[in-house]
Amino acid sequence: MCIRAAEIEDSITIAEILADGFHSNMGLYNWLYPVVRLGIYEDVKNRLISPTYRYICLVATNTNSLGGEYLLGTVEIAVKSPLFWEAEPHKPYVYISNLAVDRDYRRQGIAKKLLEVCEAKACQWGFREIYLHVLDNNQEARQLYLNLGYRLKQAESSWSWLWFKQPNRLLLCKSLSACSATDNSMSFS
Ligand SMILES: CC(C)(COP(=O)(O)OP(=O)(O)OC[C@H]1O[C@@H](n2cnc3c(N)ncnc32)[C@H](O)[C@@H]1OP(=O)(O)O)[C@@H](O)C(=O)NCCC(=O)NCCS
Repeated sequence: MCIRAAEIEDSITIAEILADGFHSNMGLYNWLYPVVRLGIYEDVKNRLISPTYRYICLVATNTNSLGGEYLLGTVEIAVKSPLFWEAEPHKPYVYISNLAVDRDYRRQGIAKKLLEVCEAKACQWGFREIYLHVLDNNQEARQLYLNLGYRLKQAESSWSWLWFKQPNRLLLCKSLSACSATDNSMSFS
């Protein structure tokens, strides 16, 4: 497996992995699914065409017997400024989003590896903490983050929970105590 920065040509496959990872295509949602996937594709492509400072989209890839490359999973990492309504964190922070692994390749340590590279990148940028959100009903992801040392910083309930029974978002944080000030250990493969 290799982990590298995503290129614009990866946008379609990244959108497929994200749409499948985060959206249902069952029953009534089936007709909406292509629209959702197209929206994700446009968002990903735009982020890759004009990346902001300290933003990176990573992909995990493998090669087949003919030497062709295929994507296994993806994640994004960026430095964010706190929004005024956010209780935590109070200063610029490194934030992980859109972590998803193709369902055919799950439970092979791909998400773990992608997160490790994100953590190394955060260290390289000079940060000592890393943040992400997970829905409280996403048991697989919560287990993954718990095992890797992410801890609950804040539970965020919203009005939509009351009206639409949407799950709460949990803000998790990991202290990157292992990284030194001059950490250059990010390995992409
Ligand atoms: C969550 C997700 C990214 C995990 O990807 P993955 O590559 O399968 O995860 P890994 O193989 O690296 O798993 C590492 C550890 O996480 C935990 N874990 C991962 N998937 C799990 C599952 N289905 N059930 C229980 N624990 C799980 C396990 O502890 C696992 O270690 P183990 O396999 O040695 O027991 C993947 O299931 C996915 O894409 N889900 C849909 C999108 C999503 O929910 N993303 C997270 C948004 S916050």
